[in-house]
Amino acid sequence: MAKTDRMVYVCNACGSRQNKWSGQCGDCGAWNTLEETRAIEVKGTGRGRGYSGEVSAVQTFESITVHRDTRIVSGLSELDRVLGGGIVSGSVTMIGGDPGIGKSTLLLQLLAAVSQQVSTLYVTGEESLQQIRIRAQRLGLEQVPMKLVTETHVERILDIIRQEQPQVLVIDSIQTVFTDALASAPGSVSQLRESTALLVRFAKQSGTAIFIVGHVTKEGALAGPRVLEHMVDTVLYFEGEASNQYRMLRAVKNRFGPVNELGVFAMLEGGLRVVTNPSAIFLSRHQQPIPGSTILVTREGSRPLLVEVQALVDDSHLANPRRVTLGLEQNRLAMLLAVLHRHAQITTYDQDVFVNVVGGMRVTETGADLAVLSAVLSSLRNRAPQTGLVLFGEVGLAGEVRPIQAGADRLKEAAKHGFSRAIVPAANAGKQTRIEGLEIVPVQRLSEALEQLW
Ligand code: TYD
Ligand code: MG
Repeated sequence: MAKTDRMVYVCNACGSRQNKWSGQCGDCGAWNTLEETRAIEVKGTGRGRGYSGEVSAVQTFESITVHRDTRIVSGLSELDRVLGGGIVSGSVTMIGGDPGIGKSTLLLQLLAAVSQQVSTLYVTGEESLQQIRIRAQRLGLEQVPMKLVTETHVERILDIIRQEQPQVLVIDSIQTVFTDALASAPGSVSQLRESTALLVRFAKQSGTAIFIVGHVTKEGALAGPRVLEHMVDTVLYFEGEASNQYRMLRAVKNRFGPVNELGVFAMLEGGLRVVTNPSAIFLSRHQQPIPGSTILVTREGSRPLLVEVQALVDDSHLANPRRVTLGLEQNRLAMLLAVLHRHAQITTYDQDVFVNVVGGMRVTETGADLAVLSAVLSSLRNRAPQTGLVLFGEVGLAGEVRPIQAGADRLKEAAKHGFSRAIVPAANAGKQTRIEGLEIVPVQRLSEALEQLW
């Protein structure tokens, strides 16, 4: 067998390999993502190389033994719920997020929390052990029996974990880890993939649960981590704005639990604290209702959440008035404004329309439509909606208000926070949904809903 070194170009966005450099990736169409790496190819006998003669047994469902997921519950309730009820042994979880968002802090707290029940190991390639000790001191976790090591060489990491046999392992971060098998620099796509593959294989064989930290690049592109998404069991993103203390952990993929589950934390002086009642933080309690602001009951994963939607509608001096959204989809706003015109005879063609979801939340569901249009109308008329009003519901192109999922849960959440009136799709207001202290106003058309605002 002869080894040859050759340069190949690997796309940062999709991970495909090209033989020639070009400005645009031929596979996924992304620009400026090709990165030169040295490919070490082992020229063997072609097909079947590396084949040792062992064959996997062919089985039927009956012959496959199933081990029930054994979950390690950390006690950090928001993290456990995002994971689907605790850490599954043998699973590989990637936590992505901007540098400085709190990934290392979260994982240090996680390991500390489980280290009383199981053996743990924290492998760091980013910080020195002193730095981690200082952080642990700050978090009040110095007495915890967890083990730490600085290492970036994946083969050596594997040797260490074979010896230590931790049940929960953290790799901080995957961008610093490299394998001997490749000559490219740590952090390059091929290194990320190869190192992750080795760790995943180890997790599956040994039953060790592995958490991998992946930094997201500045442009917001998930260069690196993105190419790993399909290799790991669970992908979590840690998000938030540097300017406020709240951090949201979102599951975008989970082989062991629901996706889109959201965990909310607050980054305080003494580390991350779980926020058990997140509705409260996304509502800015005004003394009295103000024009352009409505309260939406949205849903994140399995949990209803109250958020404030704000709109500002102002005379435009542009040929194409602006439609700007923060935390919502922009095209949907343009569509909703067209529905507002056609089915409620309210024109905004000469107005700039800005819509914002307060608190840095992102709402992706169509259930926000009614709250958005109500906020727009309220701002346009400069008239505050009633006190204690919440809304939810999808608005269709025909001007109808369509039902959305989990209406009853949302209504209960609204009542829990002291709201007294809810404008909801008629189909979400069945006879059974009667809630103490909450007046439910069922609507079928957009125009009906807007009449109920005042
Ligand atoms: P860190 O976990 O190092 O982020 P990452 O690993 O994602 O890069 O978090 C660093 C930030 O968190 C830093 O700006 C300081 C802040 N922080 C606190 O506010 N309170 C704390 O108790 C700790 C440990 C960090
Ligand atoms: Mg870190």
